[in-house]
Amino acid sequence: MKIDFFNIHSPQAVSAVKNSKNISTQPENRPSFTGAADIFAKKFIETQKEIDEIFLKNPEDNWIAGSLPQGWLEKLQKFPEDTRKDVTQKIFLAFRAAVKHLKPYNAPKTSKDYSINGQNKENRNAKEASKYLTKALRHFGIIPETNSVNFKRRKVFGQYINRGYVLKEKGQNPTLEKLFIKIFKKTNPDILDTNYNGVKAETAHWLNLNQINCKYISKIYWGDIKGNFIASEYATPPKYISPIVKFKAAYNTLQDFYHDFQKQTGIDVTELIDRNITPGKTNPKGLYVPKSKEEIIIGYLQSELDEAGLRHLDLHKDNAVIGTDENGKAIVKIIDIGGVVKKIKLPKQQI
Ligand SMILES: Nc1ncnc2c1ncn2[C@@H]1O[C@H](COP(=O)(O)OP(=O)(O)O)[C@@H](O)[C@H]1O
Ligand SMILES: [Mg+2]
Repeated sequence: MKIDFFNIHSPQAVSAVKNSKNISTQPENRPSFTGAADIFAKKFIETQKEIDEIFLKNPEDNWIAGSLPQGWLEKLQKFPEDTRKDVTQKIFLAFRAAVKHLKPYNAPKTSKDYSINGQNKENRNAKEASKYLTKALRHFGIIPETNSVNFKRRKVFGQYINRGYVLKEKGQNPTLEKLFIKIFKKTNPDILDTNYNGVKAETAHWLNLNQINCKYISKIYWGDIKGNFIASEYATPPKYISPIVKFKAAYNTLQDFYHDFQKQTGIDVTELIDRNITPGKTNPKGLYVPKSKEEIIIGYLQSELDEAGLRHLDLHKDNAVIGTDENGKAIVKIIDIGGVVKKIKLPKQQI
């Protein structure tokens, strides 16, 4: 008998999860569930062809690489250890099914194809997808019965994104990390060569970037190649400060600028100095004149990537935003790593 794990309320699925020791269909010594993710973490894989091959060699990954957020994983501690990977996989697949149901509706309001029905249908689908995922997450004990999760559409601009959603827990004392879901535009799957954008490249490269462990780069949780989306750390806009960095033309003292810079970006000026980045200069009147925010911030973020032998070819103001750190303070975050490339190592010059 085939158990329908997507129908999470089927009696078979319920008893299978309760008795989760029996749900493993894999031999005991199967390769690690995070096979592909491990490989991407260790090595910056450049071509789509190689990325495909890694997934093909790790079929148990189901074209998903990464992990659930820490807070979600903690909720899975109650499952016996040898079943957690299977449960995680079921959550990933329930997530894939929910995202598939979102069906973005893209006709612009001004176009003749636009219909309010189309728009309403998208909204209805988002509600249904949220309801479905809520049921699945309650079922696996990720959220309590009192709480729910909800896909909220965000206005986004980008060449590769089709739709962006924030997934947030609602209800009593929500504890789960918010996720940003980037659904990609459909791309030509036949490009096997090097490509630094799209769901495959961004999943593989972002898992590699996670390893730098830089607080100014949002983390990816997982990428789902079949589902055509990535779930990453959501950069929550700060509450009490503008998410748009703005410097004064001139500051009375160097310290005044440093203070303002730190407050708006979370970057300590000593970090700039460590990287030989001079953020401005004192003018003849003795006032401190900063360079442009792009020059300083992007220069700094590039230097972070530099350390890892990488470079971002598409680092502009829409790909680094102001989010919040764990204390609610403003912090700059790279949120789009499409365009990150491995730097070519130039051979040392022979003298
Ligand atoms: N993790 C995130 N947190 C907050 N906002 C995000 C996040 N990821 C993307 N966005 C928003 O969505 C927009 C488009 O996403 P992006 O990844 O840059 O798409 P593209 O690859 O098409 O440029 C971003 O400019 C930003 O406004
Ligand atoms: Mg972008």
